[in-house]
Formats: sequence, structure tokens, C-alpha cells
Amino acid sequence: MNVLIIGSGGREHALVWKILQSKKVKKLYCAPGNAGIAQEAECVNIQPENINGLLSFAKEKKINLTVVGPELPLSLGIVDKFEEEGLRAFGPTASAARLEYSKAFAKEMMAKCNIPTAAFKTFTSSHEAKEYIKEKSAPLVIKADGLAAGKGVVVAESVDEAINAIVDMMDKKNFGEAGKKVVIEDCLKGEEASFMVFTDGTTIVPMVSAQDHKRVFDNDKGPNTGGMGAYSPAPVVTDALADRVIKEVFKPLLSGLKKDGIIYKGVLYAGLMINDNQLNVLEFNCRFGDPEAQPILFRLKSDIIDIMEAIIDNRLSDINVEWKQEASVCVVIASKGYPGNHEKGRVIEGLDEAEEIKGVKVFHAGTAKKDNNIVTTGGRVLGVTALGADIKEAVENAYKAVEKIKFEGMHYRRDIASKALSLVI
Ligand code: AMP
Ligand code: GLY
Repeated sequence: MNVLIIGSGGREHALVWKILQSKKVKKLYCAPGNAGIAQEAECVNIQPENINGLLSFAKEKKINLTVVGPELPLSLGIVDKFEEEGLRAFGPTASAARLEYSKAFAKEMMAKCNIPTAAFKTFTSSHEAKEYIKEKSAPLVIKADGLAAGKGVVVAESVDEAINAIVDMMDKKNFGEAGKKVVIEDCLKGEEASFMVFTDGTTIVPMVSAQDHKRVFDNDKGPNTGGMGAYSPAPVVTDALADRVIKEVFKPLLSGLKKDGIIYKGVLYAGLMINDNQLNVLEFNCRFGDPEAQPILFRLKSDIIDIMEAIIDNRLSDINVEWKQEASVCVVIASKGYPGNHEKGRVIEGLDEAEEIKGVKVFHAGTAKKDNNIVTTGGRVLGVTALGADIKEAVENAYKAVEKIKFEGMHYRRDIASKALSLVI
């Protein structure tokens, strides 16, 4: 079959790598892809938000399955449009993806379905939001309702910081339409984990657990990023907790959506906050996490095309999804300045040497080919991913590979998975 993957990040490179292992795949395209993906699939220069362009390309190349990586095309209804034209696409429809592109909608669904989450209020008036902040006092979490590339959440430690966030989002309109509405919620403490499932709207198949590292610097210091590294499994997600997440979060959510006429199909991601026995949902994403996809797909034994096709055809219950026992770790290498304005065009060295380390694959994110060199083009540049018998070995393999890679201004966290190591050892 002919497959098209949409996106250009580390998550999409991991999807390319995994999908190419399927015997069913004859030809793989990626739009727009990156320099690493170009070594494995044919890249086409169509942007993820150009839905009509992608549709024409899929028809012309007789694409049998389109796999959507990022949230933006999902929020623009790419799956609905492909289906209307008789094409198969993996991912939720726009009305189901609303769980990610409207935080207010996600919170209302959680409240309606009795899913544990922080107490919240939604505002469309900046004056009322500021009054509420003064009344409640800090810490509070301020969230722009719409998509803001991971930058629309402020964990405010003081009333001033919370009010400044409202000024940025609602008065200065720094996030455009995404900040017209805001959610203000109570601040929760605990350990975060990423919990993803495959679902066809009825059957739920949990993936192995993972933990992301949101802050840019070691020991969770500095501003939030898209994610500086991830590992799997996350010991904080015990088997008992995983059962509770299915029972208390995913089942009620899918039934609640169904009652409103929405069938959720694809990958559904719950960002969790865990504190002793307390479980709360911070957010939903309508796609694989990035960088969580890298270590998770590393551990998936089953053919991912079989899973995706079963979801589209509503027969996920027929599929046996198997995982490797080994652990995996992904260390993200970023450009100087990330997550703020970052440098571009730096030549990357040592990629081949890094992949010579046992169990290692270097997934590309912000890279491009220029004059026979691979150069940086984005904030997150590479996701060095390694498998090991346990987390300790996976961490050792990943960092051995990271040390082989060089480009000017590169930075990465040195403590990926250290929380898991302290729990395991
Ligand atoms: P979100 O995109 O909603 O997951 O928020 C991004 C990050 O902000 C999360 O990964 C948490 O680190 C933090 N966060 C979000 N909501 C809360 C909350 N209610 N309490 C504490 N931290 C939060
Ligand atoms: N790593 C978090 C996300 O993909 O949203």
C-alpha cells in the first residue's frame, strides 16, 4: 500500500521508522518531512495546514492510508475532508479533536463525565478574569483556550504573574484567536505522566506509559518547552493506576463524547498529574505526544499499520497489541535559544557515529539538507532514542550517542529519566 505521513517533527520520523517495518507498505511519502525522514521516505513540500494540497497529492499518488502527526491539520478537519472524498486517514475528526484545540471544551467534557481534573472557570472578559484571580489568589494556572504550540499555559506563582498572563493573552492578543477565551484553574502538585491509548471509539487499547520533561533545564528549571526528552515505562504509572485511568478517564470520556454524537478514533493522549493516590487530568491531546512517541514506538512490537487500519474499520477489538519488555529513552537536542528565538543553519556532525551505539536511533526534528551537510532548522533538532534491558541501560546508550553529536550552541538535559532511575534503583 501507499502511505502518506503528515508532519515534520521527531514524532513523524518515529512514525516513518515504525511504518516502514510493516510488510504491507510499498511506498511511503511524508509531507513535508525533514532531512532524517528524507533518508527513509519520499518527502513532498506540502505544509500540514494545506489540506486541499494534501488531498490532491493523496489522490494523484493513490495513497491508501494517510497518517496525521500534528494537531493543526486535525483541528482543520483533515480526516473529515479525506473521508468525504473516499480516502482513508488515521486520526480523529475535527469535532473529536476539539478535546485538544479547545481547552474550555475539554474541561467542560471532563466536568460532564465526572473525570477528575483541577477546579476551573472559563472567561471571555479580561476584566472578569482579573477579578477572579484577585479573589482566588495564587498559585493559579492560566490557559489560552486554543492551540498555542505548547506556549499557551502559564503556571503563575503570584497574582501579578497571573494577571500578566491575562494581559498577554486577552488584552495584547499575543496568541491571536487562541487567547480570546481563557481557562483559569487551580494549581495541582505531583508527578506528571503521559498516558496514551489507541481507540476506535469503543475499544480502548492502552499504550505503555511514558514521562515527558517539559522544562528546558535540568531539575525541571526554566520555561516550558514542547518536551526535552521522554522515557518508557514511567514507574509512577503502576498497573493499578493504569487500570484506574482507563476506568475513570477514558471510558467515561468516550461514552460522553458518543452521547454528543462524537466517535473518537485514533490516538488519545491524557496528560496526568499523580499525587499519591490522587489522579487528575491536566489536558487531552488528539495525537501522539512528541517526544513521547519516540520511546513508545520503540517498544511497540506489533505492526502499526494493522492497528491503524483496525481503528479506521472499527475492529480494534480483533487486534492483539504487543509491547517489548525493554525500556526506552529519548533525549532531545535543541538549538541555542530554544524555547525562545533560536539559531538556525548550524552544521550537525556525528550522526552516523551516534547510530553505531547499540540500540540507538537518532530521530530528526528541525533538520534540513544543505550543500551535502545536515543543518539545524528548528528549536528541537534531534531526538536521540535508545533501547535498553532497563531504564538504566537505555539512559546509558542514549547519552553515549548524544556525546557523539556536535553542533554550535546545542543544548540538552542531562537528567532525562533520572526520576525513574531513583525509583528503580
Ligand atoms: P497542558 O498543555 O494543559 O498540559 O499544560 C502544560 C503544562 O502546564 C503541564 O504539562 C503542566 O506541567 C502544567 N500544568 C497544566 N495544568 C496544570 C495544573 N492545573 N496544575 C499544575 N500544573 C499544570
Ligand atoms: N510532549 C507533549 C506533547 O506532545 O504535547
